[in-house]
Amino acid sequence: MLKKSHARAKGEWRRMSPRDLPMVCEIAAVVHRNHPEDPEIFAERLQLYPEGCLMLECGGKPQGYVISHPWVLLQPPDLNTKIGAIPARPGTYYIHDLALLPDARGLGVAAKVVGMLIDHARAVGLPNASLVAVSGSTPFWQRCGFRPVDDLDLAEKLESYGMARYMVRTVESRP
Ligand SMILES: CC(C)(COP(=O)(O)OP(=O)(O)OC[C@H]1O[C@@H](n2cnc3c(N)ncnc32)[C@H](O)[C@@H]1OP(=O)(O)O)[C@@H](O)C(=O)NCCC(=O)NCCS
Repeated sequence: MLKKSHARAKGEWRRMSPRDLPMVCEIAAVVHRNHPEDPEIFAERLQLYPEGCLMLECGGKPQGYVISHPWVLLQPPDLNTKIGAIPARPGTYYIHDLALLPDARGLGVAAKVVGMLIDHARAVGLPNASLVAVSGSTPFWQRCGFRPVDDLDLAEKLESYGMARYMVRTVESRP
């Protein structure tokens, strides 16, 4: 099991490697009790788009992760479902999952990595970023410049996520 970190030092984001996957699953099991995903889901995203998968380390210990990749706007993948491939013509940069252990929250490291992902989206020529906000995280994403999109087709698509909102922001705007 994960031990609670006592380090409150600022964290550093680094590229995820396949060796990190067991720790990603452990963190996900703690953070996403209501939205479990199988290990092969994380492994597939890392294999398909390693540049969008990062680990947070605080005091030398993994404390969080983010998984993201180019995708199709307004078509969020179902939860706990493989995506097969990165689309040939993506229209958005999709943040699939951002999860921090409780000790690493409130330090600004989540907002920092969102800024890094927005920079990456801009660099690869995508006009916006999108995500499905779960677990009451909508205010955090609004703070990061995302706005909810209300769409009937989307509501159906989000059923696998439980209470969730699809959110989008342009890569040009600053919050
Ligand atoms: C959502 C999460 C990533 C935010 O991490 P965090 O460390 O609290 O975020 P930061 O410290 O970078 O906060 C950035 C800003 O958002 C604000 N914020 C963070 N969570 C918030 C919330 N629930 N409601 C309102 N504002 C919030 C912070 O106050 C901060 O504002 P400031 O810049 O004015 O100080 C983290 O709480 C988490 O891992 N939660 C569980 C998993 C989850 O819900 N992930 C999102 C799935 S879509």
